[in-house]
Amino acid sequence: MTNNQETLLKVEHLCQYFGATKAVDDVSFEVKKGEVFGLVGESGCGKTTTGRSIIKLYDITSGSIFFKGIRISAGILSYQEDIRKAKAEYNEKIATVTDPTEKNLLSQELKQRIAARKADIKRARFDQKNCDKQYSKQMVAAVNAKYRALLSRATEAEKPALKKEYSNELRKARKAKLVTQIQMIFQDPVASLDPRMTVREIISEGLIIRGERDKKVIDQKVYEMLELVGLVREHASRYPHEFSGGQKQRIGVARAIIMQPELIIADEPVSALDVSIQAQVINLLNDLRHSLGLTILFIAHDLSVVKYFSDRIGVMYFGKLVELATSDELFKHPMHPYTKSLLSAIPLPDPIYEKTRQRIVYKPLAEHDYSVDKPSLREVAPGHFVQCNDAEFAKYKAQLEQA
Ligand SMILES: Nc1ncnc2c1ncn2[C@@H]1O[C@H](COP(=O)(O)OP(=O)(O)OP(=O)(O)O)[C@@H](O)[C@H]1O
Ligand SMILES: [Mg+2]
Repeated sequence: MTNNQETLLKVEHLCQYFGATKAVDDVSFEVKKGEVFGLVGESGCGKTTTGRSIIKLYDITSGSIFFKGIRISAGILSYQEDIRKAKAEYNEKIATVTDPTEKNLLSQELKQRIAARKADIKRARFDQKNCDKQYSKQMVAAVNAKYRALLSRATEAEKPALKKEYSNELRKARKAKLVTQIQMIFQDPVASLDPRMTVREIISEGLIIRGERDKKVIDQKVYEMLELVGLVREHASRYPHEFSGGQKQRIGVARAIIMQPELIIADEPVSALDVSIQAQVINLLNDLRHSLGLTILFIAHDLSVVKYFSDRIGVMYFGKLVELATSDELFKHPMHPYTKSLLSAIPLPDPIYEKTRQRIVYKPLAEHDYSVDKPSLREVAPGHFVQCNDAEFAKYKAQLEQA
């Protein structure tokens, strides 16, 4: 992996609240094109919510999500809070000032700040709603340019077939969605497949929604995908209940990759499967990653699954990202006590180590004093980020220098 890799996905200060539950709370990370980014943490820490926010299943509470440089999601709570804060601050100031010119100046400043945040809110709502429209416009223009050029060079005999292809491509471009380039493989293969649909219908659904009509093209694609995930074309006419857990997850993979996504969010794709099947599905994803040039956001609840598969790993704890580093760095120099506790839970095939292996339990209140010195995600070494306060930052840096 090189440093100048293109950023495919950028999550910026993402917050997703459900009432009082801060499922995801100020999470930021980037996924580079072609990499596997592991997102790890215990049950309920907000991994699935992060994934579902990225594929726009929610109107996010706050923050921004960029895909290929286009903002696809934007929340407004932070802007609303800033307006509230500004009003409180300025009104307090204005009340203490007696000079009318100064009073006037302050209220002008307040007005400007409110106007700026209102513009932010408007822009956020616009981007949230129109990202696909903007993208589709670009695609239509590209198809027009391509086929006008082709038609101008085509013979009379070639034209009818070309025109048919043109109108088919144009229909797809009009329906093109940036967001379909992000596909999710869901945590529970059983619940995520409609039992009343055949495998063919399940796998081809996205293509049809996207505007594909040609039955031959659809069938051909379905068969291709089945083969790609290690199933056979005869499976196309069967129903989900006729498959094992591992096979169901393969159907889920086929449904995702038929859309030719650039980014796959694999939400614990193997945790519902037998250990013996887990490696098969991981290997399948790894093969596809290389053959299709996929970028993968791989969600798991323990580090052992993502260790060999991920280029970089983000560790989540209760809605926060507590550590982010390359896979090697995280295993060699874990800094955050929660990461250390996750590492201590991984069994190793070494009987002597296993005899002495001690599980470290993470106790946040005993570990950190955040009463005055507040934490944030900070870079303790190039590319290695840890959630910490000033005191911890100094301590971690010193530890790393000794290592
Ligand atoms: N639609 C929802 N409405 C209300 N609360 C929700 C909703 N979805 C998730 N939550 C809450 O948000 C928190 C994070 O849930 P999430 O499913 O993202 O966790 P997770 O890390 O994927 O856990 P697991 O490993 O068990 O899948 C939990 O407290 C959960 O109860
Ligand atoms: Mg989950």
